[in-house]
Amino acid sequence: MHILLTGGSGFIGSNFVRYVLRDRPGYSVTNLDCLTYSGNPENLSDVEGGPRYTFVHGNILDIELVTELMQKVDCVVHMAAESHVDRSIIDARPFVESNVLGTQTLLDALRRVDPDNTKKFVHVSTDEVFGDLPLDKPDELFSETTPYAPSSPYSSSKAGSDMIARAYHHTFGMQVMITNCSNNHGPYQFPEKVIPLFVTNLIEGKKVPLYGDGQNVRDWLHVEDHNEAVLAVLEKGTAGEQYCIGGNNERSNLELTHSILELMGKGEDMIERVTDRLGHDRRYAIDATKLKTELGWAPSRSAWPQALEATVKWYVDNEAWWKNVKSGAYRKYYETQYGSR
Ligand SMILES: NC(=O)c1ccc[n+]([C@@H]2O[C@H](COP(=O)([O-])OP(=O)(O)OC[C@H]3O[C@@H](n4cnc5c(N)ncnc54)[C@H](O)[C@@H]3O)[C@@H](O)[C@H]2O)c1
Repeated sequence: MHILLTGGSGFIGSNFVRYVLRDRPGYSVTNLDCLTYSGNPENLSDVEGGPRYTFVHGNILDIELVTELMQKVDCVVHMAAESHVDRSIIDARPFVESNVLGTQTLLDALRRVDPDNTKKFVHVSTDEVFGDLPLDKPDELFSETTPYAPSSPYSSSKAGSDMIARAYHHTFGMQVMITNCSNNHGPYQFPEKVIPLFVTNLIEGKKVPLYGDGQNVRDWLHVEDHNEAVLAVLEKGTAGEQYCIGGNNERSNLELTHSILELMGKGEDMIERVTDRLGHDRRYAIDATKLKTELGWAPSRSAWPQALEATVKWYVDNEAWWKNVKSGAYRKYYETQYGSR
């Protein structure tokens, strides 16, 4: 099985490559990534040059390039996206370009090379497409039947990409499957996202910026559990279906912050309250029953607080990696290799 993975130099994608190379001996991966600020080839320096991994520097919006790559592979796992809500509030355009037009470009390329629809396409999306849930109704969860109600430019662009993916299944009979997962954590996450940001700030002696009242709730899923679920969908999922992926770990941002402070041996005084994110969704929570009953997947690495502890330890142990990223030094290396986007 030869997979075309888009966005494989980012957080989830680089963990996906490593997972596949480790757990699926018969598989190989071609990673197409244009290396935005969050794409870092160093995330995969340990597998670079190996016989089952190929890196292609390019944009998913380049129809000729993606058409050529689609011819050589058996299936597509699509993770490339602009992924940070705060950045989408500052400038939404790259989100619409990469997330909506990028997905459409990939699907058009696949149609060109595979008119008989033999190749599967897994579109990796987010639970944020469903909007948010009330804090006072803990029994309410997102599932595959929840209506779409995205609230940020990021989640709206992901919702748009989901709609395009659905339409290409419905209209052309393509083997498209969509996954909607909750917040991932684990190694190699760009340190603007909350867990690596907080851990690395504390190591550097800086405070951790907590949005608003800290009561916003997220469901935390270890990235290895997420990638295992994506593989289950690729291998056993049904074309045209959607699958919600969750970790059964709802925590408020304040609870998360306290856990990180405790693990790092720091006190409450290291919290800096900052103005809330515009339009900040209150609560996300997932009902992943469909994945369990239909594909036999359930999270096994996300138990709290052990999973958080392992993630925190990774950043503590890998200071050289995140210092390189935070200082911007990592860009200098690959801009000389590949040029900027
Ligand atoms: N991180 C999470 O908690 C989370 C949760 C739910 C869903 N997701 C989804 O999972 C996917 C991966 O997220 P992530 O956290 O790894 O993001 P990330 O920002 O770490 O990585 C995204 C990767 O995509 C690449 N990319 C972006 N635009 C591209 C383009 N036009 N052409 C080629 N490559 C491009 C970037 O260079 C980067 O390597 C995204 O689709 C995201 O929406 C993430």
